[in-house]
Parts: sequence; C-alpha cells; structure tokens
Amino acid sequence: MPDVLISPSILSADFAELGAEIRRIDAAGADMIHVDVMDGHFVPNLTFGPPVIEKLRRHTDKPFDVHLMMAPVDPFIDDFARAGADILTVHPEAGPHLHRTLQAIRSAGMRPGLALNPASPVSLVEPVLDAVDLVLIMSVNPGFGGQSFIDSQLRKIESVRKMIDQTGRDIILEVDGGVNRDTAPRAIAAGVTAIVAGSAVFRDGPDAYADNIAALRPS
Ligand code: DX5
Ligand code: ZN
Repeated sequence: MPDVLISPSILSADFAELGAEIRRIDAAGADMIHVDVMDGHFVPNLTFGPPVIEKLRRHTDKPFDVHLMMAPVDPFIDDFARAGADILTVHPEAGPHLHRTLQAIRSAGMRPGLALNPASPVSLVEPVLDAVDLVLIMSVNPGFGGQSFIDSQLRKIESVRKMIDQTGRDIILEVDGGVNRDTAPRAIAAGVTAIVAGSAVFRDGPDAYADNIAALRPS
C-alpha cells in the first residue's frame, strides 16, 4: 500500500453519472472512494444514502470510505454494511453513545472511523481510540466541497498523530476539506496517512483525474 492513501470525494463528481465517475477515479489511481452522506440536518446539505451506495458498489473493488454527516446514525448502521461500506466514519456529535456506535459499526463488519469538526477538541478522540481504525480531521466545516483549508487543523493533526503512534496500532489518520496540491504536503508533514479531496481531484474533467490524484501524493 502507498504511504498516503488518496480518497477522492465523489461529492465533486457528476451526480448524473456517478458509476462512471467512480470507474474513472479507480482507473486514475484512487486508493479508496470517499462517500459523503449528508442528511440536511446534521449539515446544511443533502446527498444520498445506502440505496445509492449499494448501486455504486459494483463499479469498483476499491474500499468505500463512507463519511456520515447525519444524525442519528445507529438505526442505519446495518443498512450501510449491506450497501457495501468498508469504513464507516461518524461524528461524535451525531449521538449520545459514541462508543456503542463504534462497536456497532465493527460488529456489522465495517471499520469504524471518528470525524472531528474544526471546533471539536482532540480530547474527544482519546477515550475511544481503541475502538477506531480511522480518525478523520475535518479541515473545513462539513457540508460542502470547494471550501478553503483551515490552517489551525494542522496542529490537531499533529496531536492526533502522537496519540496514534502511542497506541502502536495501524490507525489511518485522514484529512478532509480544502486539500489540494498546496495544502496536501502540509497535512502530510503534520502526520496524515490518508487524504480526501473532492474539487482538487474532479477539476478540469476526466482526462485530468490521474494527474490530479498524483499531484496529491508525497513527492
Ligand atoms: C465536506 C466533505 C468533503 C468534501 C471535500 O463536508 O466531507 O469530503 O467533499 O471537498 P473539497 O476537497 O472540495 O474541500
Ligand atoms: Zn467527507
């Protein structure tokens, strides 16, 4: 596996041809497919849910890195497992019993992830670090693609990097929001092992996807 996983966010893809877009980013070198689920309640935007993900599953063998920006989560965990999610990442604000939610995700056969909003403290991670396989640091406020990277999140990445190293476990540290060829090297230097990018991958049309993905990797 590469040192840094690139997980293009299909939020920036052409929604009228999502299957083809996933095949294109797979062929262009994506390591995972980042799937943003928004409910119009936890975040001020709407995307799609398990039935769409299930239909997309057949278009690639790459892992589906599913980022839930929705509340509640618990009633839908089995639906996401059946739809073919590999990693299921939740925000701690989405429900009252985060540890139980993470356990339920693992019990359903998926890898649990925890996402921190820009204003959410690092201290939320420590009590549940043993229950997660991925920590996602939001470097924009969730809800929309195409926003600017919030620099203060680099310090949070550094802090979580140290916490993960102390566990000795292979926990993915992922950054999401405003990541492009300028900000990616800074996030990598701070310690991420996975990069989500929407607009930076899907810009300039399908012929540019491979170059756009390659430009995010460490040089
Ligand atoms: C934002 C989503 C991101 C989004 C990133 O709420 O979680 O995954 O697609 O888009 P860019 O890379 O354009 O900031
Ligand atoms: Zn996301």
